[in-house]
Order: sequence, then structure tokens, then C-alpha cells
Amino acid sequence: MTPPDSTEIELRLLMEAIYLKYSHDFRDYTGASQKRRVLYALEQFGLPTISALQEKVLHEPAMFAQLLQYLTIPVSEMFRDPAYFLALRRQVVPVLRTYASIKVWVAGCSTGEEVYSLAILLREEGLLERTLIYATDINPASLDRARQGIFALEAIRGYTANYQRAGGQCAFSDYYTAAYDAARFDPALCANVIFADHSLATDSVFAETQLVSCRNVLIYFNRQLQDRALGLFHDSLCHRGFLGLGSKESVDFSAYATRFDPLARPERIYRKAQ
Ligand SMILES: C[S@@+](CC[C@H](N)C(=O)[O-])C[C@H]1O[C@@H](n2cnc3c(N)ncnc32)[C@H](O)[C@@H]1O
Repeated sequence: MTPPDSTEIELRLLMEAIYLKYSHDFRDYTGASQKRRVLYALEQFGLPTISALQEKVLHEPAMFAQLLQYLTIPVSEMFRDPAYFLALRRQVVPVLRTYASIKVWVAGCSTGEEVYSLAILLREEGLLERTLIYATDINPASLDRARQGIFALEAIRGYTANYQRAGGQCAFSDYYTAAYDAARFDPALCANVIFADHSLATDSVFAETQLVSCRNVLIYFNRQLQDRALGLFHDSLCHRGFLGLGSKESVDFSAYATRFDPLARPERIYRKAQ
């Protein structure tokens, strides 16, 4: 067996150091994409090697906070993949409507765009007031931005188009006030949202939910970690609860393949199997 090259070894040691020092577990993230992100961070920090980065991360917590921005990919958009939200509206909302109270978990919510999108959809369907949304992520800076609900005005044109394609029923501008180069979303949308630090790699289930939405997160995990996350979603969901993974991820080939029934195939929305 060929030994891993030095970069691979340094990468593994860095992830081990981060885990031991900060309890953030990146050890089961996919190698190639993680390596790309760490090498990019090295360039930005002007450091020669991953070992040099490791030394800084171990001795300077502020450095770890910066590195976290590279490791976590805080990229999102409102009504991203509109077909997903349209499918939720048409195929999931009618069932959610039958519950007296609803709990939704947005896992890996990043800077909050997915949460605001869901809140808008639920408000339009008359369900927001009886819904509690748990919006979780491991990046505290992203969670802070999500709580603020302020997004760049230049992105709003694209979000408006997404919203319309997602079956939006109002004018998208009803939901925000624009000032200078920012759009501030109606804080009432988040009256029943709990933004919290939670890791799919190390934490456990915290509530029973009717819908879990976790998109563009599992792609960064290896099979073992994907199975862990899917296990948490399975345990959290109520009888016949819904799991939305979005078009890039699926339960196929996972340990949970037979424990979810496909509901909307291209959008990868599932129901917990009987
Ligand atoms: C690309 S963003 C996806 C944002 C949003 N769900 C979307 O689809 O637009 C991936 C998010 O997953 C989060 N993440 C990465 N590892 C995680 C973990 N172990 N537990 C929870 N969230 C994690 C990152 O911090 C990042 O905010």
C-alpha cells in the first residue's frame, strides 16, 4: 500500500488538532474538497505549509475562527433551486397543514437564506404562526448573519426570480425593506426561529420534527458521516415525517436507503418509511 503523501498527512493532522483543541470534527469530510479549501486558505493567509497553519490554529483561536470560514463554505441563496420549494409547497405543505403545531429543522442553515425562504413559504400557506423552526449550523459567524436577516441588495433580483419560480404568491419586496446596498427582511418572519450551534458530526437529536431540510451539506461528508447525519434526521422525524435533501444529495447507497420513501424524486424529498 502506498503511504499517503505529506500533504495528506498534514491535512489529517490538522483535522485531528482542530478536533482535539476545538471539538469541531472535520475528520470525516471528503478529502479532495477539504484539501482544496485548506490549500486556498493557506494562500489567503500567506502560509507555506499546512503544518504552519496547524501551529497557528493551535495557538491562536482567532486563526481557527478565520479558518472555519474556509472549511464550512458559507454559501447560500434564497429559494435556491426553486423546484425544491415548489415541491414542498405542493406535496409537503398539505400534510403539514394537518398538524396542530409544526416543527421544522433546517440543518446546515449557513447565513439563513434557506430559513427565510421557508418562513416566507410557510407564511403564505398560513402555517408560519404554528411552526417552530430550528436553524442550525456549526459556523457561529454564519448564524449571527442569519439572525440579522440582512442580505445584499444586489442579490435580490436573482432571489426574486427564484421566489416567483418557487410559486411565490406576493411581491417579493413585501418581505424586506431596502436601505443603501442591503435588504432587511421582516424580523417577524423569524419570530419562531431558533438559530443554534449544532454539529451533524458530533451532536445528537434535540427535538421531534415534521420536516428536516438539509441541502448542500452532505456533499461535504464521507459515507460514514452522511450515515450519521441521516440517522439523526431519521430519529428526529415523526412518523411519516419529511426529509428534503435537494437535488445534489440522496439517501441512495446510504445505510438509510430503505428507511425513507421517495416523494419528489428530482428534488430529493423523502418521507420516513412506515
Ligand atoms: C453550502 S452551505 C448550505 C447552506 C444552505 N443549506 C443552502 O443549501 O443554501 C453548507 C453549510 O453546512 C454547514 N456545515 C458544515 N458541516 C456541518 C456540520 N457538521 N453540522 C452542521 N452544519 C454543517 C456549513 O457551516 C455551511 O453553512
